[in-house]
Amino acid sequence: MTNTHNQTISVIGSGYVGVTTAAILANSGYKVFALEINTQRLETLKQGKSFFHEEYLNPLLKTAVDNGTLVATNSYEDSIPKSDIVFSCVGTPDNPDGSSNLSYVYAAAEESAKYLQKGAVYVQKSTVPVGTGEIIESILQSSDASIGYASNPEFLKEGTALIDSLWPDRVVIGGNEEKSNTFVKEVYETIIKMRQAIVKIAGINESITKSLPVTPDYIITSRNSAELIKVSANAFLALKISFANSIAKLADAAGADITEVMYGVGSDRRIGKAFLNAGRGYGGGCFPKDVKGLISSGLAHGVDLEIMQAVNNENSSMPGYILEKVNNQLTRPIANKKVAVLGAAFKAGTSDVRMSPAVRIANLLSEKMWANVSMYDPEAFTEDGADDQLNRKITIAATMEEALEGAELAVIATDWNEFKTTNPKVYAKLLSGDILVDAMNCLDRDTVVAAGLKYIGVGR
Ligand code: UGA
Repeated sequence: MTNTHNQTISVIGSGYVGVTTAAILANSGYKVFALEINTQRLETLKQGKSFFHEEYLNPLLKTAVDNGTLVATNSYEDSIPKSDIVFSCVGTPDNPDGSSNLSYVYAAAEESAKYLQKGAVYVQKSTVPVGTGEIIESILQSSDASIGYASNPEFLKEGTALIDSLWPDRVVIGGNEEKSNTFVKEVYETIIKMRQAIVKIAGINESITKSLPVTPDYIITSRNSAELIKVSANAFLALKISFANSIAKLADAAGADITEVMYGVGSDRRIGKAFLNAGRGYGGGCFPKDVKGLISSGLAHGVDLEIMQAVNNENSSMPGYILEKVNNQLTRPIANKKVAVLGAAFKAGTSDVRMSPAVRIANLLSEKMWANVSMYDPEAFTEDGADDQLNRKITIAATMEEALEGAELAVIATDWNEFKTTNPKVYAKLLSGDILVDAMNCLDRDTVVAAGLKYIGVGR
C-alpha cells in the first residue's frame, strides 16, 4: 500500500492504542509516523513488531514498516511538520491521589505546537478527564490559531484491539469546529473502506467478522461531551462488573448461582449480558484508573460520585473475598506448600499485567497465606518487567503442567483458553490436593466435581 491519500498522519505514543492506530492507518493508505520516546519500544517498532502481545498486530506492522508507510521515530521535528493530522495516544497514568497525570498529554501538545503546519488537526485519543481538551486547544492555538482540535476517544479492548478498531460500534468526535470533525471522520471512513485489505494482511479469519456492525455510528459532540463519554462508558462497564460481583456474594450466602442469575438479568435487552461476569474483578490500564479518575474529576467540580467509590471498593475486595472462601474450605494449611496460580494477565488475550487481580491473588497467597506460589501465564512473562509487581518469592513456571505438578490447590486467575479447555481430570491428576479455584467462573462446575475435585467459584 502506498500513500494513496497523499496525507500524512503522526501518532504520538506507542502504547496499546497508539501502535494499533498507527498499524491500521499505515495499512489504509496513509503515510504514518509513530512517535515514541522510549528507546526499547522504538527499536521494536522499527523492526515491525509491537512490544506487547496482541493478535493480528505484527503482520500489519511488518508490512507497513517494510513498504515504508510506517516510520518509527523519536523526532517531533522530523514528523509533525509533515503531518496533516496528529493523533495523541500518550499514556495518562494515575497520580497517587487517583487523579490523572496529564504531564505526557500536555508535553506532547506543547512539543507538537512548535512544529504543526497551518490548518493541521490535532486529535486527542488517549483518555483524559473532562475539561482537558480546552487546555490542549489553548496550547495549540496560542502558537497558531489555524490548528484544529478534536477529542476522539478510543474504545478498543486489549486482546481484540484490531477487530474493535476495524468494526467499531461508534466513533465519537468532539470538536468545536466542523472542519476538524469532518477531517477526523474522513479518516475513519477511509479505514472502513480499506477494511477488507487490512483483514487479509492481518490474517483475520473473515468468518469471525460476519456479525460485526458494517458501519459505526458517527457521534459528533462538543469537546467536553466526547471526553465525558469515554470515561463514563468505562465507568459504567466497571459498575456492571462490580454490581455482578456484589450480587455474587449474596448468591454465595443464599445458595444461588451467579452465572444463572446474571444470564437471567442480562437477558433483558435493556440491560444486556456483557460485563456481568462475576469473578476476581477488573484490572488493566483502563478501568481501575478511569474509575478513580472520574471520582477525582467529580470532586474537582464539586460532585461526589459516591457510586463510583462503591464500584472501586467492591472491586478491590474481590481477590481477598475469593481467598477467604478458599480458607474456609481448606482441610490442611497451605503455608509452605506449593500452590498454582494459572494466569497473570489482567484478562485473556493480552500480555498486560497492569493492575491485574491475578497478580493480587498470587501476592495474597504468598504474603498472607505463606504459600509457595508457582505462577504460569502463556503470554504475560514474555514482556520485560511483567513480574515487577509480583512478590519475589513467587516462582514463574514455564508450562501449566509445571505450575500444577504437586500443588495443594490451583487458582484459575485469568480465563485463557488453555485453562478452559484442559480436561479437569488433568488438573486432578497433577495436583496433590483436591481444590480447584475458578476465580473467573469460566469452568463447568459439574465436570470439575466429576473429576474428583472441590470446585470453588465466585457466587456459585
Ligand atoms: C476497556 C474497555 O472495555 C474499552 O472499551 C476501552 O477502550 C479500554 O478499556 C480503554 O479505556 O482503553 P480493556 O481494559 O482492554 O478495555 O479490557 P476489558 O475487556 O474491558 O476488561 C477489563 C477488565 O474487566 C478485565 O480485567 C476483565 O477480566 C474484567 N471483566 C470484564 C470482568 O471481570 N467481568 C466482565 O464481565 C467483563
